[in-house]
Amino acid sequence: MSAAKTAEGIKVIEMIAEMKEIVSKVKRQGKTIGFVPTMGYLHEGHLTLMRKAAEKTDFVVASIFVNPLQFGVGEDFEDYPRDLERDIRLAESAGVSLMFTPGVNEMYPGGYGTTVDVGNLTDKLCGRSRPGHFRGVTTVVTKLFNIVEPDIAFFGQKDAQQAVVLKKMAADLNMNLEIEVVPIVRETDGLAMSSRNKYLAPEERKAALVLSKGLELARNLVGAGARNTADLKREITNFIIREPRARIDYVEILSFPGLKETENMDGRVIIALAVFIGDTRLIDNMVLEV
Ligand code: PAJ
Repeated sequence: MSAAKTAEGIKVIEMIAEMKEIVSKVKRQGKTIGFVPTMGYLHEGHLTLMRKAAEKTDFVVASIFVNPLQFGVGEDFEDYPRDLERDIRLAESAGVSLMFTPGVNEMYPGGYGTTVDVGNLTDKLCGRSRPGHFRGVTTVVTKLFNIVEPDIAFFGQKDAQQAVVLKKMAADLNMNLEIEVVPIVRETDGLAMSSRNKYLAPEERKAALVLSKGLELARNLVGAGARNTADLKREITNFIIREPRARIDYVEILSFPGLKETENMDGRVIIALAVFIGDTRLIDNMVLEV
C-alpha cells in the first residue's frame, strides 16, 4: 500500500522516503508537526495522546511499528496484537493526518548497524528486567524522530521510565523537539490501559487489578503518614502476593524523574510496579509529591 488515501483523508505510508517528502511539504507550509509513536493495537491511551497532539499542533503524524529491537528473546514480539485496519480508523477519528506503518526491513535493512544508548537511567526498573529493551526504544524513536521531524512528540506516563529516558536522550543529543508526557489512561475499574491487556483471560483480567489497587494502597498509606520506602514496598508486595495469579517482577520506589534510590518518601517519588499476571507482564506507576 503506497500513499493510500481513505475516503476521509488519513494517509497511510510505509516508505521512509515518501514520509520525508510529505514532512518537508508540511514544513514548507509552515505547519507544526505533532508525533505519536506507537506499536499499534490502539486503545484510549494512544488515542488520548493523538487528540492531545491534534490540540497542540497543526499536523499529526502517528506511527505503528512493532519494533523487534526492543523485544527480548522469549518475549511477545511474534504474538504482539495487530489490527491495522481498526487502528487506522481510530487514529483518524482522533485527528491523525498521516500514519506511518513501515515494515521491519524498511526500518532495519540488511547491514543495519547503529543503536542509541542512554546511560544511567536504563539500568533499573524495566531496563534491569528487560536487558536491551531501552536500547531498542531509543534507537527506533531516534529514527522515527529523524523521519518525522516533529515539533512536539507525545508519550504516555504509563511507560514512565520510557518517557524519562526519551527526554534525557532528546536533551543529551540536542534534538530539536519538545517531549510532552500525558497522564495514564485507565479502565473504569482502575486497570491501566495497555495493548497487552488483550492477553488476559477473564480471571486474569480481575487479578490484574492488584497493580492499580497496590498503588492506591500505597497512596493511602502515604496519606496516613507512611514515609519509609522499604516499609511501603513491603506493604505493596504483601498485598500483591495475596493474588495467586500474580508474580512480582519488581516493586520499586524511586525519586522522580531522577530514578534514584530513596530511603524516605521525600519530594517527588515514583512507585513503579511490574507484575506478571499468568504469562502477561503488566506495568503501572504512580508519582506522588510528598
Ligand atoms: P506502545 O506501547 O504502543 O505505546 C505508545 C504510547 O502510548 C507510549 O507513549 C505509551 O506510554 C502510551 N500509552 C500506552 N498506554 C497508555 C495509557 N494507558 N495511558 C497513557 N498513555 C499510554 O511505548 C511504545 O509503544 C513503544 O515503546 C514506542 C515508544 C512506540 C517505541 O517503539
